Amino acid sequence: MKAILVADDKSLVWGDFEDPVPGDNDVLIRVAATAINRADLVQRHGGYPPPAGASPILGLECAGEVVEAGSACTRYKTGDQVCALLPGGGYAEYAVVDEGSVLPIPVGLKVSEAAGIPEVFATAWLNLFMEANLQFGEKVVLHAGASGVGTAGIQLCRSFGAESFVTVGSAEKLATCLDLGAASGANRHDGPFLEKAQVFAPEGVDVVLDPVGAGYLADNIKLLRTGGRLVLIGLLGGARAEIDLAQVLMKRARIIGSTLRARPLIEKAEVMAQLEAKVWPLIEAGEIKVVVDRVFPIEEASQAHDLVASDQTIGKVIMELNH
Ligand SMILES: NC(=O)c1ccc[n+]([C@@H]2O[C@H](COP(=O)([O-])OP(=O)(O)OC[C@H]3O[C@@H](n4cnc5c(N)ncnc54)[C@H](OP(=O)(O)O)[C@@H]3O)[C@@H](O)[C@H]2O)c1
Repeated sequence: MKAILVADDKSLVWGDFEDPVPGDNDVLIRVAATAINRADLVQRHGGYPPPAGASPILGLECAGEVVEAGSACTRYKTGDQVCALLPGGGYAEYAVVDEGSVLPIPVGLKVSEAAGIPEVFATAWLNLFMEANLQFGEKVVLHAGASGVGTAGIQLCRSFGAESFVTVGSAEKLATCLDLGAASGANRHDGPFLEKAQVFAPEGVDVVLDPVGAGYLADNIKLLRTGGRLVLIGLLGGARAEIDLAQVLMKRARIIGSTLRARPLIEKAEVMAQLEAKVWPLIEAGEIKVVVDRVFPIEEASQAHDLVASDQTIGKVIMELNH
């Protein structure tokens, strides 16, 4: 099959790779579209390696058609239109994945939109509702609010009765986040977010979803209210920082580190099942949208990566395949 391969000089090349073979519990998907995630840029340059047994090809999500189902699969059959959360292998004509990481394409969605759902909605759902136990009426800070994960998170907060404050990198991004349902926000290039977030939540916030890490740690902890939860999902702003443990102690705060990709299949299947039960109906009703910035042909993966790396995108960058 054809796939995007990372050459020795880190350029992206549309080349030949062996066909993936589904195991008993896997489905084989003919990929019609895949989407870019921040982690792909890191993996391309040698960080964030795929978990043991996963494809070395980039790509954490896809949408397309089932062309084969392993002997132990119970749900999907040839011809089903699906989208999937992948441990790797999405930038290719074919991908294999455990049946539990696969969901039907929501009714009414284009395949290119469906390709942009699994990774960011699973991440936002897992970390807001399963890890941080977000409740109706609580207040949330979403850093990188206009990212793929952020645009999913804002809409989930709105739909499930939580108020969100975002940080973003431009006025245009802030306007989009407010349209999606954020209550207010701050442009990170205008200075620290703390004071504006304290206007949003004078008594502190219940949950912070943070892909930034070190650079935001002190202000994140200052901002938490008693019993608040900080979920760390990325290290865009560094991995090492000092922490005021007195504040953590006195606020009875919880700091939770969380990655999705390397979790056991059974945990990913639970996240996907919750998404199908709670979020698929909202997507099919048009209440929750997949925010797509741009769609590229997969042969232009290099330009698509450059666009994501520019920090100018809002929502997802999709790549389509022409079989
Ligand atoms: N732990 C997990 O399981 C998991 C899963 C998926 C994603 N993630 C993480 O979640 C984050 C978002 O992923 P994505 O694919 O949705 O990203 P994305 O769409 O590529 O957006 C990332 C955005 O982060 C902001 N940003 C970049 N560098 C920053 C910095 N130094 N400080 C503050 N903000 C910065 C930029 O927006 P602004 O300029 O508007 O701020 C950028 O557009 C990434 O860190 C990713 O690794 C974690």
